[in-house]
Amino acid sequence: MSVRRLSPNQPASFEFTPETLEKAKAWMANFPAGKQQSAVVPVLWLVQKQEGWVSEPAIRAVAELLGMPVIRVLEVVTFYTMFMLEPVGTHALVQVCGTTPCQVRGAEALMAVCKKKIGPQNHRSADGKFYWQEVECLGACSNAPMAAINDYYYEDLTPEGLEKLLDDFAAGKNPPPGSEIGRQNSAPAGGPTTLTDPKLYDGSLGKKIKIPNLPAKPTKEKA
Ligand code: FES
Repeated sequence: MSVRRLSPNQPASFEFTPETLEKAKAWMANFPAGKQQSAVVPVLWLVQKQEGWVSEPAIRAVAELLGMPVIRVLEVVTFYTMFMLEPVGTHALVQVCGTTPCQVRGAEALMAVCKKKIGPQNHRSADGKFYWQEVECLGACSNAPMAAINDYYYEDLTPEGLEKLLDDFAAGKNPPPGSEIGRQNSAPAGGPTTLTDPKLYDGSLGKKIKIPNLPAKPTKEKA
């Protein structure tokens, strides 16, 4: 289990941008009056999208916005590992899956690339552009090994492919996510082997259904 502590280096304050506040209020409006605390996860996510991480002043601001105790927001932030508790890289947050399927398919070699190009995990790189960490299963096991970089999944990764991705991010590019080997979704490497007939998907094999006449509406019995 990871230790989840707030960063010792905190900014003096936090301000919602008008865009973030508008989106936060839209989330809050999804819940009945008095239940705005239910929006805590999406509102924290919006904060992270704005700042790149969730600071202690931001936690207080979220608590105030949602009318809930600061400790309750703190509990949520420290429970869910999707929330970053310290500043991450300006160009890329790299989360390498280290769970068994990815492990047996080469996750350690990917982590070695991260160590070499970024530095120790859970720290920003010297130039501030990158931050990497090992995470638990991200649910893309069939395309192992994989990493989430910022908001997208990069799958079937090789060490060389990951090095190239990091170089692209360092150069300010946004390389396309997905499978490094061009796998279709989670189909077998090399392409689907079953259900390959295109007619299965164009509707041409569908049977015409005869819609029966609807029974007449029952009429009220006369008293
Ligand atoms: S084990 Fe890596 S995505 Fe599931």
